[in-house]
Amino acid sequence: FSLKKHNTFGIEVKAKQFIAVHSVDELKTILENHQNDKKFILGGGSNMLLTKDIDALVIHIDLKGKKIIKENENHVWIESQAGENWHEFVLWTIDQNFGGLENMSLIPGNVGTTPVQNIGAYGAEIKDTFISCDAMEVATQKIKTFNKEECKFGYRESIFKNEVKNQFIITSVVFKLTKNNHKISVDYGDIKAELAKNNIENPTIKDVSNAVITIRNSKLPNPKELGNSGSFFKNPVISKEQFLKVQSQFPDVKYFEVSDTEVKVPAGWLIEHAGLKGYRKDDAGVHKNQALVIVNYGNATGKELLELSKFVQKTVFDKYGIAIEAEVNVI
Ligand code: EPU
Repeated sequence: FSLKKHNTFGIEVKAKQFIAVHSVDELKTILENHQNDKKFILGGGSNMLLTKDIDALVIHIDLKGKKIIKENENHVWIESQAGENWHEFVLWTIDQNFGGLENMSLIPGNVGTTPVQNIGAYGAEIKDTFISCDAMEVATQKIKTFNKEECKFGYRESIFKNEVKNQFIITSVVFKLTKNNHKISVDYGDIKAELAKNNIENPTIKDVSNAVITIRNSKLPNPKELGNSGSFFKNPVISKEQFLKVQSQFPDVKYFEVSDTEVKVPAGWLIEHAGLKGYRKDDAGVHKNQALVIVNYGNATGKELLELSKFVQKTVFDKYGIAIEAEVNVI
């Protein structure tokens, strides 16, 4: 079974066996029936680099549905099944004037994988609106509810990437959104400038969403046209001490303070200023508009993309002494 359509890099690899599940009961039955088989869980396929055929049963989580489960005067609690497309879900909330997710418009992938790496963009992270998620334990087929604390969210991190990695399958997620008095957040990056271009002074959540969509479209390639997985690397967090050394050599380096002792440096800046923005080897490349993104121009293999990513890591390390870590899951 070809997985080309099931990974946003568009890499041609094969799965030994493939099953799409459409309900929690179906998922339970499949896990019961395949207790001793190797399994590989697949959501939207937007955060992984497949470097070889998958010698396992691939279970594609295709659970659909979203609904309001609770509301009061000011807030609404919405539960979405894991297989809903993230961006369509965000637009659905905005259409009903529910606020909180607008800054995260157009992020590829499905709802069920958003907690795994606490997705974020333009000043917002999933953890800001997240209430809980349900997940099935692979070994027991029991559903456990994880509240926000239990998820141990961090920058592109959660318990699902660490302590309980591969042990649970997220089946649904609950978000708490605003019905009025939306907290409009336009301080990150180019959002304000984008709104100003359209003479918008008091933006609605729809205006913010539209601005984010325009900015993302201008920098980030659409995976339907050019295979990619969003940011390939995480932005490295380094000590202030190390940062000051780097800054003394490269005075223009961009940075965000994360604490009194640590600084986050945009990997995109480091890669661009190491001369690699737009770099291409065969069909594997560093995107021309956003150096944090690795792209497949057509027929790159997972191995070629992985090699390119290692070359980028090495070049950055040799130039600045900073190690950058992959954000995507390399399989
Ligand atoms: N920059 C460059 N050259 C580049 C790219 C960036 O100099 O090629 C500089 C920019 O000028 C800016 C800074 O780096 O000063 C930050 O750039 P940007 O706002 O584009 O964000 P980022 O740090 O590159 C992060 C997320 C993105 C998210 C954006 C916007 C990570 C790993 N990535 O990227 O998330 O969309 O912020 O909030 O944190 C994703 O995770 O897949 C993703 C796309």
